[in-house]
Amino acid sequence: MSERLRRTEQRVSGGNDLDRIPARVDELMSQMTPSEKAGQLTQYFYFRLRAGASAEPGAGTDQGARPHLVEEALGRGEVGSLLFVTDPAEINRLQRLAVAGHRLGIPLMFGFDVIHGLRTIFPVPIAMAASWDLETIERGQAVAAREARAVGIHWAFAPNVDIARDPRWGRIVEGAGEDPFLGAAVAAAQVRGFQGTGVGQGDRIIAGAKHFAGYGAALGGRDYDEVNLSEAELRNAYLLPFQAAVEAGAGNVMTAYMDLNGVPASANRWLLTEILREEWGFGGFVVSDANAVRNLVTHGFAADVTDAGARAVAAGVDMEMAISDPAYAHLPEALATGAVSETALDAGVRRILEAKLRLGLFDDPYVDEDGARQVLADPEHREVARAAAERSAVLLRNEGFLLPLDAGRLTSLAVVGPLAHSRRDTLGPWVFDFDLDETVTVVDGLRRKLAERVRVDYAPGIRVAQRVFPSMFDMFGGNRPEDPEGFDEEAEFRRAVSIARAADIAVVVAGEWQNMIGEGASRSSLELPGRQLELLQAVAGTGTPTVLLVMNGRPLDLRWAAENVPAILDIWYPGTQGGAAVANLLFGEVSPSGKLPFSWPRTVGQIPMIYSHTRSHDPQKQGQRYWDEPSTPLFPFGYGLSYGQFTYSDLTVDHPSIPPDGTVSVSVHVANTSDREAAEVVQLYLHQRHGSASRPVRELKGFQRVTLAAGTSQHVQFTLGPGHRRHWSTAERNWVLDSSIFDIWVGGSSTAELTATFEVTPT
Ligand code: BGC
Repeated sequence: MSERLRRTEQRVSGGNDLDRIPARVDELMSQMTPSEKAGQLTQYFYFRLRAGASAEPGAGTDQGARPHLVEEALGRGEVGSLLFVTDPAEINRLQRLAVAGHRLGIPLMFGFDVIHGLRTIFPVPIAMAASWDLETIERGQAVAAREARAVGIHWAFAPNVDIARDPRWGRIVEGAGEDPFLGAAVAAAQVRGFQGTGVGQGDRIIAGAKHFAGYGAALGGRDYDEVNLSEAELRNAYLLPFQAAVEAGAGNVMTAYMDLNGVPASANRWLLTEILREEWGFGGFVVSDANAVRNLVTHGFAADVTDAGARAVAAGVDMEMAISDPAYAHLPEALATGAVSETALDAGVRRILEAKLRLGLFDDPYVDEDGARQVLADPEHREVARAAAERSAVLLRNEGFLLPLDAGRLTSLAVVGPLAHSRRDTLGPWVFDFDLDETVTVVDGLRRKLAERVRVDYAPGIRVAQRVFPSMFDMFGGNRPEDPEGFDEEAEFRRAVSIARAADIAVVVAGEWQNMIGEGASRSSLELPGRQLELLQAVAGTGTPTVLLVMNGRPLDLRWAAENVPAILDIWYPGTQGGAAVANLLFGEVSPSGKLPFSWPRTVGQIPMIYSHTRSHDPQKQGQRYWDEPSTPLFPFGYGLSYGQFTYSDLTVDHPSIPPDGTVSVSVHVANTSDREAAEVVQLYLHQRHGSASRPVRELKGFQRVTLAAGTSQHVQFTLGPGHRRHWSTAERNWVLDSSIFDIWVGGSSTAELTATFEVTPT
């Protein structure tokens, strides 16, 4: 076993007695029938909806398994895992059915979409990535894990590590954006946060990297549609965050829904066995996405559900996530006909039982319900969430240094827009167990901060905008946005403009309602939905200095605002403490320090657009590839302003020339020349001038977040080894390390200009 694999094993095993696990697994397996084995490989949806919800959920049109059917299967020992149960008492009840209600007493593993928090909601994942702050990201997921484990959840369907280069795709909000280097670092930090020292740690949960692989490249940005990616694109970009998650010890990987180059990802042996297990040495278990095994029939790939189950197992899917009617229930038939081998089936069962043993579930299957309440109420968790929201906001524009605002010089503030005071939208998508009463909106945050000193008036101004086609999450109570009763839009619009006119400063909050982003939330345009632009224009037209706060999970068309609104702060969906963080940012208690994790296009027609494109004919016209609009981004990747002022100088490389396996050390001097403390994300980009394949004009290969007090400076060091230069070359059909000249740029965004070179010579 390689050293890396052994380390991964150790991390995964946590504190449990690894040596005894195989014997306990053998002993259990020797007593199991084929149906019980197939059952261990099955995960069911199990729902109880909140009051106000209308139907049983289920992805797409499926209504989900009926609870009584699941409970019957539990009694037969034919369920390995449940998802979507978050109430500790209910978890204990169901666990008792599994443990006490069947002769083998194999405990259930409970999984859930712990995407950006359980009770304490953190900024959405794209926002956390915008912090470029790996410690904050790790701490956030550690808090989420602690809350989840306290209620009895053992496994998160996170991190989502899908590279997303097409913001029409709604699930861009769940990942770390367009870049594989940033994506890999964020993926590993999340795995560390969820799992701590490993799967056995008591207050942590299993991390499940998803959706393997290429899901973000859906044709036209349409969720679930097919993906066609070259091996070079897969290996140089889309697979890297998965590999980083595996190397960080992730205990689980989830498959993707769509076809990848014509083969469904959920039965793709090349991905699930050759790359994941044989190349990377993944030792955890693979789960399908919801109903993705049955869907092999929908794809026109499997002949029927029995064939679907058999082929998924053969490709390397250990567990089937089933909304209802699992295909894996037919595995005993497939075994009898020889369509699936006992070895393949047993390998999956072994992995699931191992995970349960490592989690310590056989010794301690139940949760402490009182303890759970205490953990969920821990005020420290809210503090971590507030700090994360402060660090993830990106200052996109600040003409004439309108921000930070000075409370001492203001008497009144007008806050405008329905999103400014919507608790549910402040939290963002993919949360279910939140507490709206404690959620701090922008209006709440500003009122609390300014108390009696500054008057804060609020007017929504316009109706909430609605989707043309409803969201599958609308069925959860409170998820579909609604106007206040008796809302008179024209009168409200006039009131919004009039409070803005009368105020010293106007703050407009605009963006997308949270049900417009996430799964099944692709869009054909990037415009601000509804009458938000009109409202923004009317408010700015009053002449009152205006700040635009953008609440979003994807880039939106801000061309008008970028020319006409002096200050724009991207606050994303900032979570439970969002409004408190925003107030601290607007009034300068902290300086914005987030940087964009994607290139922000001007308009939807530019998509897909990445900063790391290759150079081609007429490169001087790179910005004029369209005749009607610059082909440059509105805001580049890595961009974000600060209240501080940073200058970069003295970029040095320690060796002008190195062999292919050599390493250079890069140093740069960063100074904060302003009169306030601020954090900056120092970024390093690399370019290979020539070689066995054309390489991108620049690629992120290092970053460091530094906090500099007023008037201070620091030398920041980077190390660039062969791993940073290695790339998958289509010409060589392999990984290569080319001899070439390499350019480096270091600065505060992907347009950094301070540059140096070094050479890699043949050995
Ligand atoms: C999503 C997954 C999610 C699962 C369970 C699916 O529709 O694609 O990301 O984990 O549902 O909620």
